[in-house]
Amino acid sequence: MAPSILSADFGSLAADIARVSAATDWLHIDVMDGHFVPNLTIGPPVVASIRRHTGLFLDCHLMISEPWRYLEAFAEAGADATSVHVEVDRTEQLLREMRSLGLAAGLAVNPETPVEEAFEFLEHIDYLLVMSVHPGFGGQSFMAEVVPKAAKAWGEIERRGLEVTLQVDGGIDSHTVREMAEAGARCFVAGSAIFHTEDPLGAAREIHEQAAEVVSAMESRP
Ligand code: DX5
Ligand code: ZN
Repeated sequence: MAPSILSADFGSLAADIARVSAATDWLHIDVMDGHFVPNLTIGPPVVASIRRHTGLFLDCHLMISEPWRYLEAFAEAGADATSVHVEVDRTEQLLREMRSLGLAAGLAVNPETPVEEAFEFLEHIDYLLVMSVHPGFGGQSFMAEVVPKAAKAWGEIERRGLEVTLQVDGGIDSHTVREMAEAGARCFVAGSAIFHTEDPLGAAREIHEQAAEVVSAMESRP
C-alpha cells in the first residue's frame, strides 16, 4: 500500500502521514515540475522535511523533464526510491545512477505509452509503474483500458523471472484495486481514495484488504 500525499493537506503533512503510517508500506511522493506535467508540487527540501518526521520508505515519483539534475538531491534528502518516466530521455543512465546512489529504481509508463517501451529496461529496475491516469493531478477517474497493459507487463516480468514489482498509480480505490491486483500489480498508489475521506487509515486498510484477497485467491489457484 502506497498512500500518495498529493491528496493530503500540505499544511499539516506530518500529521496526515502519521495518521496513515500504520497501513503504509511505501509513502508515495509526487514530484511535478510544471513542464513534464502541467502542475507544480514539491521537491527535495520537502522530502528532507518528511524524512525528519517518519521512518517510512519514501517513494518519489518524478514527473519532471530533467530528472538527471535532481537525483542526487533526492537521495541526499532521504528518498529510498525514485521513479522516472520512460517518456523522458537517458533512461538507462538514470536507472544506473539511481542504483549507484542507493535508491531503488522505478520506471513509469504513461497511459498512452506502449508498455513495451519499458521492456528493454526491466533488468535495470526494481519496480515498474503503470499509470492508470494521465499524470499531473489527483482525483481523476481510473482508466480501465490500462488493465491489459499491466497484465502484459506482469507477464513479461514473470517470463523473464525478474524481481520487479508492478506498481499502479491513478484512480486506485477499494474497487479498482482488485482489477489491478488480478493483472499482477503488487504495489498500489492511492491518493484521494485515502486522504479525501473521513477515515484515511481505514480507507488505506480497506484497499490493502481488497488487494490481499485477490492475491491470496490467485495464489491458491492450481
Ligand atoms: C498523479 C499522481 C498520483 C496521484 C494519484 O499524477 O502520480 O500519484 O496522487 O491520485 P489518485 O489516487 O487520487 O488518483
Ligand atoms: Zn504518483
